[in-house]
Amino acid sequence: MWLLLPILLYSAVFLSVRHIYSHWRRRGFPSEKAGITWSFLQKAYRREFRHVEAICEAYQSGKDRLLGIYCFFRPVLLVRNVELAQTILQQSNGHFSELKWDYVAGYRRFNLLEKLAPMFSTKRLSEMFGQVQKVGDHLIHHLLDKEDQGGPFEVDLQQKLRVTLGRLPQKSSYTYRLRDLIKQSVELREDHGLIRKDILQLLVRFRNGNEVCGDKWQLDTINDAEKLLSIKRLAKVAEDLLKVSLDAVASTLTFTLLEILQEPLIVEKLLAEIKDLSNKSGQLKFEELNGLRYMDMCLQETLRKYPPLPIIERVCRKSYSLPNSKFTIEEGKTLMVPLLAMHRDEKYFSEPMKYKPLRYQQPGNDVGQCEVKTKSNAFIGFGIGGSQCVGQNFAKLVIKVALIKLLQNFNLELDPNQMKTIKVSHRPAPLIHSKDGLKVKLKRREINPKFYS
Ligand code: HEM
Repeated sequence: MWLLLPILLYSAVFLSVRHIYSHWRRRGFPSEKAGITWSFLQKAYRREFRHVEAICEAYQSGKDRLLGIYCFFRPVLLVRNVELAQTILQQSNGHFSELKWDYVAGYRRFNLLEKLAPMFSTKRLSEMFGQVQKVGDHLIHHLLDKEDQGGPFEVDLQQKLRVTLGRLPQKSSYTYRLRDLIKQSVELREDHGLIRKDILQLLVRFRNGNEVCGDKWQLDTINDAEKLLSIKRLAKVAEDLLKVSLDAVASTLTFTLLEILQEPLIVEKLLAEIKDLSNKSGQLKFEELNGLRYMDMCLQETLRKYPPLPIIERVCRKSYSLPNSKFTIEEGKTLMVPLLAMHRDEKYFSEPMKYKPLRYQQPGNDVGQCEVKTKSNAFIGFGIGGSQCVGQNFAKLVIKVALIKLLQNFNLELDPNQMKTIKVSHRPAPLIHSKDGLKVKLKRREINPKFYS
């Protein structure tokens, strides 16, 4: 009797695990061979915790456009074809609920996401541009002060650029301090009429039931009882937005610098483009930034090779027939689009590990000889369809301003030892960063009269 019980228990566990691991096979999907072995369970466990490398390995393990895999005990459908992924992300409205990071889920609850899009309209961005420049100038002054104290110096630019908040434990005093600062700032704007042309001002307008589109920045305040968001909740939303999005911005800047500083020709081309900006007394013009075609290509190439969001996930809420296939994904199952693996697939981008901004060159755009071609429009670094990144223009604006100011003011040199050893890390998943930072030697550039006349 005592012997029978463990045997029965073991058999029940074994059969149910085997049932889970045959999910895709039973439905006729191309799928990996799953088994109750130590190495398979380890692989499945790593995937569950978004070890990006483990997902990339699954992507590379075959030729089918769809592959049924297992993230621990969860059957997940991996899309292994860019065109199919694009079609699904664009056309599957209503069938999937987006598995977003908490901050976006919070917005859905407050129906704020729909309100966010107009915050990043060209008009709003052009008015926020002054604030963005101020932040860039602040970074440069801080670095120049360092140089004044003793000539050229080495700095970990990743650390400087990254908003370290995302790495802080939930209840650190710094987290509280930032929330307090946001609270104070909200009070100043509501009670003392302070106007700042920034995202926070638009969030405060939303809290007071004011339109966030249009061109008004001033607040029409309402009674506390009628406010749409409590100060605490608004501070949390602003803080979460900062954490995730600025981390993506900082990693894009870090990896752009890492790549371009290894290629003096790229830096030269960027400097030549920057020199053509009118740039009176160090101040840039918003409209002119759109003309920085080569810089745009560099940023796109960074986002291709190092996408800050390497995997897009969706949970199926209403069964969905996958386009151009005989398969249907059922309610409750997860669909995964591995951006990073696709962006580094030779099928879509020749010599994928090479940093080649000119692969995006359009005919008639004369920034240089096109060296490498892109086979299709396979770039999806900002997502695609209804859930694509609403903040992408803001992100590009911030990155461009920071890059221009850094290149204008400093000769930047990578630590040569670091170049060989640099390691890209996705821990904590899924964000991307350089494991040992980005050590760069900065030397003040001779002031260019064109920049400061
Ligand atoms: C280089 C920087 C950035 C990258 C690479 C990036 C990438 C992405 C991607 C790939 C998505 C789609 C996710 C999905 O389909 O599940 C997304 C969504 C989103 N992003 Fe960004 N992002 C960046 C910066 C920003 C910034 C600066 C903001 C705001 C200040 C922002 C706000 C959002 C929001 C609110 C969504 C959700 C949109 C929706 O669900 O409709 N992002 N981002």
